[in-house]
Amino acid sequence: MATDPLRVAIVGSGPAGFYAAQHLLKAGAQVDMFERLPTPWGLVRLGVAPDHPNIKAVSRVFEKVAEQPGFRFFGNVEIGTHLSAGDLRAHYHAVVWAVGAPADRRMGIPGEDLPGSVSATAFVAWYNGHPDYADLAIDLDVERIVVVGNGNVALDCARMLGLTRAELERTDTADAAIEAIVSSRVREIVVLGRRGPLEAAYTSPELAELGEMAGADVVVDAAEAAVAVPDDATHMQRRSVEIVKEYATRAPSGPPRTVRLRFLASPLELRGDGRVQEIVVGLNRLEPGADGSMRAVATGETEVIECGLVLRSVGYRGTPLEGVPFDPERAIIPNDGGRVAPGEYCSGWIKRGPSGVIGTNKKDANESAQQLLEDAAAKLLPEPADASPATIAGLVAERQPHAVEYDGWLRIDGHERDRGQPHERPRIKLCTWDELMALGRAPVS
Ligand SMILES: Cc1cc2nc3c(=O)[nH]c(=O)nc-3n(C[C@H](O)[C@H](O)[C@H](O)COP(=O)(O)OP(=O)(O)OC[C@H]3O[C@@H](n4cnc5c(N)ncnc54)[C@H](O)[C@@H]3O)c2cc1C
Ligand SMILES: NC(=O)c1ccc[n+]([C@@H]2O[C@H](COP(=O)([O-])OP(=O)(O)OC[C@H]3O[C@@H](n4cnc5c(N)ncnc54)[C@H](OP(=O)(O)O)[C@@H]3O)[C@@H](O)[C@H]2O)c1
Repeated sequence: MATDPLRVAIVGSGPAGFYAAQHLLKAGAQVDMFERLPTPWGLVRLGVAPDHPNIKAVSRVFEKVAEQPGFRFFGNVEIGTHLSAGDLRAHYHAVVWAVGAPADRRMGIPGEDLPGSVSATAFVAWYNGHPDYADLAIDLDVERIVVVGNGNVALDCARMLGLTRAELERTDTADAAIEAIVSSRVREIVVLGRRGPLEAAYTSPELAELGEMAGADVVVDAAEAAVAVPDDATHMQRRSVEIVKEYATRAPSGPPRTVRLRFLASPLELRGDGRVQEIVVGLNRLEPGADGSMRAVATGETEVIECGLVLRSVGYRGTPLEGVPFDPERAIIPNDGGRVAPGEYCSGWIKRGPSGVIGTNKKDANESAQQLLEDAAAKLLPEPADASPATIAGLVAERQPHAVEYDGWLRIDGHERDRGQPHERPRIKLCTWDELMALGRAPVS
């Protein structure tokens, strides 16, 4: 079989796609990366909170990968729309699916779809300048916002809502979001955890950061913070409980906003006349489940919290791709250590589900890429009809005449950085498809 050079299509340009590309290029493979947006880096650009520029800087590692010979980037090319899974199989020795988990998990309660109930997936994309969310109408002209969920994304949402203009204007937050957050009349942001401080999914440095905001106090009810820490608690759990207990001792210091952490409280219903006006919350106690972990059990007591906006931050969810196997239960591509079938692999959130930090995807992607290389060495890869780079470039040009190649992204990147520079911001993002495409497709001068 003529797998020299080995030609691989990677679908998705987030961490899982780029770490897989890094591993494969190092082994001498050629990589074409397909991305549905005109911009690369996945959630590093469009998920990671803008006030965490050091984390976003991981894109420098990916830039080095993209500069290597043997790598091509086809942005604004969606697999399933412009090219099919079958097209990729016909033109590559192997395909790596690294499409992430773009949708949101549902709470499954009445009123979930009322106006004023917004997924964190959408809110985060909006403040990060995702072009699909530029027109999202998020009404922040409310006094109280409830964030449901106790993961790091919930903390990101609460913190972003508590930042001051001075704090936001040092970041690459979308300009429209900065204005909306700063001019909002929100006084209180309630973060709702269905279990206790010991069971929360967030990590302790992110919890500690919440207590350092200039424009918002953090408040916890002493009774909800009074949890016993078992001997076998992890360091992270001990630290998180310690922080929550310290928050419970804080006296109000008078900033305009308050972030209130609530525990043992599940969302039961969103109610309102035409839009969210209140959330009905069921109070819980904890009981050990069959697997030993603590689970929330309803006490039967309920409470009503008035609010104008509910942000549902209960996790992301993978979505199926036409012609690619999908496990609807776990919302992942079924795989064995990243191998879907010989010649077909997956990596990142679509492989293992929507959890783990950026670095988690490196080990995960290396495992998948290694399986691919081993299958190639064992001559297990199916023979593509035509693996020539020119054929695929021709096919892309035919199916998506507006593809954005890597030099197009570099023009967008340079322009955004130039706009940010006089304002001491890392960049001022282009947030609409029109703006991005105007530069991404501009002729090279
Ligand atoms: C809000 C948020 C904040 C986070 N903050 C941090 C943090 O501060 N630190 C940290 O370490 N981790 C953070 N994470 C976790 C980290 O972002 C993920 O672990 C990581 O991005 C997952 O990588 P991925 O490549 O699997 O998915 P993604 O990053 O989502 O990349 C998938 C890419 O595939 C593209 N795609 C999807 N479908 C198609 C298709 N059909 N055709 C072509 N392209 C397609 C998408 O447009 C996207 O660019 C955060 C996650 C979220 C949600
Ligand atoms: N700074 C960072 O490092 C950073 C920032 C953002 C994201 N990330 C990572 O990205 C990944 C995704 O984060 P995430 O916050 O979206 O997911 P997550 O960590 O899985 O947290 C989801 C939260 O939603 C809760 N939940 C789920 N269903 C619920 C329901 N029906 N009602 C009430 N609560 C419900 C969960 O509670 P239970 O535990 O009770 O199920 C959990 O607290 C995580 O691995 C995270 O660490 C990292």
